[in-house]
Amino acid sequence: MKKGFFVSFEGLDGSGKTTQIRMLEKRLISEGKSVKLTKEPGGTVLGENIRNLLLNPELKETPSPLAEIFLFMADRAQNTGIIIKKAINDGNFVISDRYIDSTMAYQGYGRGIDLELINTLNRIAAAGILPDITFFLDISIEESKRRVLSGKKEFSGIDRMEKERAEFHQKVRKGFLELAVKNNQRIKVIDSCRNIEEIHKDIYKNLIDKIEEKKLV
Ligand code: TYD
Repeated sequence: MKKGFFVSFEGLDGSGKTTQIRMLEKRLISEGKSVKLTKEPGGTVLGENIRNLLLNPELKETPSPLAEIFLFMADRAQNTGIIIKKAINDGNFVISDRYIDSTMAYQGYGRGIDLELINTLNRIAAAGILPDITFFLDISIEESKRRVLSGKKEFSGIDRMEKERAEFHQKVRKGFLELAVKNNQRIKVIDSCRNIEEIHKDIYKNLIDKIEEKKLV
């Protein structure tokens, strides 16, 4: 029987996932819970290498849309297979920075790959493991671009997905919002144009409500 609790965070680049994940982790640890963080792409050693293949803007050859999706799925299979499944079974709070919905939004709504096909691939790669709750941190395309440019230029540079045109990111955002409507029991849309404390409170309240609802702790 499943003992832990699984949370995923989704959002456009610059939506503040990393900050909110850290705040939630800190709070859960202060309550005595054990937390396991992971991310996609790149939560495992294999995944880090896949991440480089996927996002490095310097690579001479760009992956085709189909090659791209299979690389994301390989990363997911490894993350689920060696990290997520075990951490949930061991009773941890597992938090993944991106998961199945990113592929639906970016490769499905963004690149136009068939959503049913992605659903099937996701079921295989994620071994049927769905998050108990997913937070979609929603910001506008303009805000995303502003944050990516101001935060990253001097550091890691802009990655291949971030380089996509505004129309692509518009489709991705619309996709996330549609997914949230279709999966309204699981995906919560969090207005992320507020101060970080307010956003954290909102996330925490939703999490506690979901735990109550599932009577898991
Ligand atoms: P992320 O790690 O959030 O970027 P960063 O660490 O630079 O903030 O996400 C990496 C990129 O990969 C992001 O642009 C979204 C994209 N992505 C997909 O296109 N499909 C997927 O299935 C996943 C997991 C990520």
